[in-house]
Amino acid sequence: MRHLIEIGDLSVEEIGELIETANDMIANPDYYNEICKGKKLATLFFEPSTRTRLSFEAAMLDLGGSVLGFSSAESSSTAKGESVTDTVRTVGCYVDIIAMRHPKEGAPLLASMSSEVPIINAGDGGHSHPTQTLTDLLTIKREKGRLDNLTIALCGDLMFGRTVHSLIAAMSCYENVKFILISPEELRIPDYIRVGILQKKKLEWVETDEMESVLGKADILYMTRVQRERFFNEADYLRLRDTFILDTKKMEYAKPDTIIMHPLPRVNEISPKVDSDERACYFKQVKYGKFIRMALIMKLLEVSK
Ligand code: NCD
Repeated sequence: MRHLIEIGDLSVEEIGELIETANDMIANPDYYNEICKGKKLATLFFEPSTRTRLSFEAAMLDLGGSVLGFSSAESSSTAKGESVTDTVRTVGCYVDIIAMRHPKEGAPLLASMSSEVPIINAGDGGHSHPTQTLTDLLTIKREKGRLDNLTIALCGDLMFGRTVHSLIAAMSCYENVKFILISPEELRIPDYIRVGILQKKKLEWVETDEMESVLGKADILYMTRVQRERFFNEADYLRLRDTFILDTKKMEYAKPDTIIMHPLPRVNEISPKVDSDERACYFKQVKYGKFIRMALIMKLLEVSK
């Protein structure tokens, strides 16, 4: 039995296969619509979510399976003091696979240790978010045609943004990928990424607190929200939240074929006016997220085509 706790749990070859399956699903959705008939997915979300939870549920429904779950800790026995381990052991009696989001880093890993069914980490605190990364990789592959030879600028809350951590881990496995890390000083990427990945793998990367001068070098600009829920005090959040706002003026610095990505939800960091720019890809990301999750569910359930 396989779980997906971190993006590194999948090899580059496996990621390539998932992308291929997702592309086939986009082209031939009808072929897959009964492939998981009789199977059940539980979404256990101890933290708010719109896209991740609903795309998991839509993915399982589009595979012909069923879904159940909860969308807040308050509506589950967690509110009575039940441990994550006990919750997962219980839900594993009812379903074939579980997607779990939790505010505590490591909670899905802990859950996987005593689970009878595959666990998918749908985001654990400020740590990682492997299925968003699969979504991002599918988007990059479809929009840029490749996953290697790219310069990716990541902007915003690189400290608490779990999607950034998983995406850097994944992109670091492809040839000649360069990173531009744009953030305020206080929100720079954590050391386990800086030392454990960027330095260790001797990648080409720069850190800056300024956007305009580097935008012209990026093939991809990955914007992120300042993660209010991870701050210790509101004043720091308010001071930092609007440091980087991508508007139509800044878009003039980007190359004609730079793609703009964002895991969403956005708050202020991308002006809605940018949405109509053909380089804006964040709503395509939303669409692709369902298909890559369909491919992942099939893989972890060992359902073949
Ligand atoms: C992200 C998350 O939950 O980490 N959203 C998502 O899953 N698409 C990004 C965020 O909340 O800012």
